Formats: sequence, C-alpha cells, structure tokens
Amino acid sequence: MAKGKTSVFFCQECGYESAKWMGQCPGCHAWNTFVEEKVEKNSPARKRAANEVTVSTLSQIETREEMRITTDIEELDRVLGGGIVKGSLVLVGGDPGIGKSTLLLQVCKNLSRQRKRVLYISGEESLQQIKIRAERIGEFSESLSLLCETNLDTIHEIIKKEKPEIVVIDSIQTMYNETVSSAPGSVSQVRESTGTLMQIAKGMDIAIFIVGHVTKEGVVAGPRVLEHMVDTVLYFEGDRHASYRILRGVKNRFGSTNEIGVFEMRQDGLHEVENPSEYMLNGRPKDASGSVVACSILIEVQALVCHSNLGIPRRTAAGTDYNRVNLLMAVLEKRVGLQMSACDAYVNIAGGIRMNEPAIDLGIVLALVSSYKEIAIDDKTICFGEVGLSGEVRAVSMAEQRVAEAKKLGFTRCILPKVSLQNMQPVEGIRLEGVESVKDALRLVSK
Ligand code: TYD
Ligand code: MG
Repeated sequence: MAKGKTSVFFCQECGYESAKWMGQCPGCHAWNTFVEEKVEKNSPARKRAANEVTVSTLSQIETREEMRITTDIEELDRVLGGGIVKGSLVLVGGDPGIGKSTLLLQVCKNLSRQRKRVLYISGEESLQQIKIRAERIGEFSESLSLLCETNLDTIHEIIKKEKPEIVVIDSIQTMYNETVSSAPGSVSQVRESTGTLMQIAKGMDIAIFIVGHVTKEGVVAGPRVLEHMVDTVLYFEGDRHASYRILRGVKNRFGSTNEIGVFEMRQDGLHEVENPSEYMLNGRPKDASGSVVACSILIEVQALVCHSNLGIPRRTAAGTDYNRVNLLMAVLEKRVGLQMSACDAYVNIAGGIRMNEPAIDLGIVLALVSSYKEIAIDDKTICFGEVGLSGEVRAVSMAEQRVAEAKKLGFTRCILPKVSLQNMQPVEGIRLEGVESVKDALRLVSK
C-alpha cells in the first residue's frame, strides 16, 4: 500500500486528535492548543502470525513476588507504593525548575550506592552541568553511568549493551524517534518515544523514570498526553519561591494515589520533611478570627470577609478552588442566613500549598464565618468534611488517619462528619464531635 504523510492536529494539552484545527479542544476544553503535525499514514504495525501466539488460562500464569527496589527516600517510596517496581514506567511531571532533575539525580545517587546499575540519560543538560549538580548533592558511586543523548534508537542500543536496572530519561520532550517526522516535543514524538520506552521497560524488566515538563504556553506536549501510557504518574509541585515541594501520586498501578510526599529544597538538594503538618502550621496566629486548621496533611485555612463597596463583591481563593469558595458562600447565605452576598471574601491556604479535596470545605466554611462574625475558633480545634448544597456535612475518606494526624500534633477537639464518626472507635486524647450540617458545626464553634 502506498505510504504518505497526512496532516493531523493534536491538542498539546491532552493529545486529542482531530482532522482539522479547532479553537477549543473537545477533550480537555483548553483553548488554542491545537498544533498541526505530519504523521505517516499506514505505519506498519508489527503483527505476529496467529500460530505463534498462544492464549493462557489464569492458572497457567506464574506470578512472582513483586520486586520492589527502595530509593532510600522514604517519602518517595511511600508515594510509589513501597518502592520502585521492576519493569515499571514512572512519569515525573512538574513545572520547569521545580526540582525534577534534582530529585531523580538523588534517586540515582542512592541506587548507585546500593550497587544497582543506573543509567541517567539527559537531553537537556551537558555532562558538565550534571556534574556540577551532582557535586551539590553528595557522593556518588561508580555504578551510575551518564549519557547525553536524544535519539531513542541510540538509547535503545546503549540500554541493550549496558543492561542497567534503572534508567532515567530527562526529559521526554527532548527525545525523538527517527521514524516520526514531527519535531521533538510534539504529541506524536512524545507518544512514540513513550511507547518505545514502554517496550524497553516491559521487555527487559527495567524500571524507567520519565521526566515530563508541564508547559504553560503549549509549545511542547505536556505530560498529560502520556499519562494513560505509563504505570505511575507523579507530579512535583509547589511554589517556586517557597522552598518546599510536594510530590503527589496521580495514578499508580502498584499502589494507592492518596499519598503525598513533602520535600524541602536546600543548598544541597532536596530533603524530606518528616512532619509536614508541623511544617505547614508553623507561625499560625493565636486567637485570630478567620483561621481554621483542616485535615489531610494539616493545613491552615484563612479567610477575610469584609463589607463590600463594589457592585459585584470581590472574591479570591489562593490555594483552593475559586468556584468552590463562591459555592460555599452561597450555601452560607441560603442555609444559614448570613449576608455573604454583600461581602468581599479572600480565602487563603497558608503556606502556599494547593489543596482541592472536598474535605477542606468545612474548614473554609468555618474560616469564613469566623472572620464574618469576628469570633476566634479555639486553636486546639481541627475540622474536616465535605459540604453539600443543602448545607449538609458529608463523609470523607480516611477519617481515621486524619484524626490520628491531628492527635499527633496535639489537637484536642475534632469536628467531623457524623457519618464518618459512626464507623470509628473513640480515640483517647482527642474529643470527636460529629456534625450533620453546617449549622451544627457553627453551633459548636460559637459556644
Ligand atoms: P531542577 O532539578 O533543575 O528542576 P527541573 O529538572 O524540574 O527543571 O531544579 C532546579 C532548581 O533547584 C534551581 O532553581 C536550583 C535549585 N536547586 C537548589 O536550590 N539546591 C540544589 O541543591 C539543587 C541541585 C538545585
Ligand atoms: Mg531538569
């Protein structure tokens, strides 16, 4: 069959494919993200003859103990679900400059100290630059090899020759495959490269870390394009001006995605933060209205509510969802009868952290009311719960862990959804008070 190149348009955000250009992506609703790429028509998919292929029953398949390799970085091991799984493909995404290369070089350092054969492939930095970074981080052993290369065929050859156990690809947007004609960083290149790496990982039982930059301009394809292809997706996030970083599991075929790891960027690389809650609550004001501590890792929610002089009140939400704040204010207006519509409101999650889980709803609501009514909430009280449109407080996941974390930090009272309380044992040293609605919660704190 005749081969030819066809023009295809890809969304650089999510990889949505279309025959024509579109202003808005139907897949992820991002605007102006479509870019034209040339792809080979009828690219010959390799097919095995039917008589070479056999099917199996479950009992015929042998499983072995999942082999985990520890990175000696506890926070990372936990987010990975207990260490690196052999033959797995892990995507580490994040903004440029957030510390992805630093984290992975530290992983390489620890693994090479365990005498594992590690290969670090960089398409972004020269060997000298890597060495300068490595010198800041510490002592390396000789079982780490470095390579500056962007051609995937060459990389495949080298991997076959060197037979490493762990490979780091920094970054996927710089890699290219000769068979694909579009530029490195384009959706088709990034996908094709990831496909090749997937085959290497599964075929040779090598764990591969892939670095993917999150880009704002949409010039190169973002890591979301390949999320579905890899086993594990981790995002490294945080405020570049603050020193801490959060590693968040978004997808994990070998563990839970509820885990996060907290790191601090110092002069000599990333350090684990042992007690993130304590770190986040540092410097919290005493007896101030508008400040509440909420769940997950413990965070402080601040709110400032004041009378508005504008026709449309001004509202901002730093570190949480703006629309959610508006919704919760509407709930307070309608279900509790507070005149929120005439107020400006500024909500902030202290420490610059971003927290979008519904469990902080109750924290936001209490912080808003606390500021509105100028009542300080007892500083040994903590709360969590999702707030629904009728003002009801709904159950959230992991109630026990949240209470345990609060107790560890010396909180003596916890306001939580009544439903969550029902299947929990009483905990010594912390008073658990279940609430059914926002009204109940307000009654408890204004006493
Ligand atoms: P880097 O790992 O290069 O980010 P990425 O690979 O995600 O683009 O991180 C670079 C930043 O980290 C840079 O601003 C310098 C800072 N940094 C430190 O503060 N301490 C260190 O020990 C290192 C290696 C980097
Ligand atoms: Mg880098």
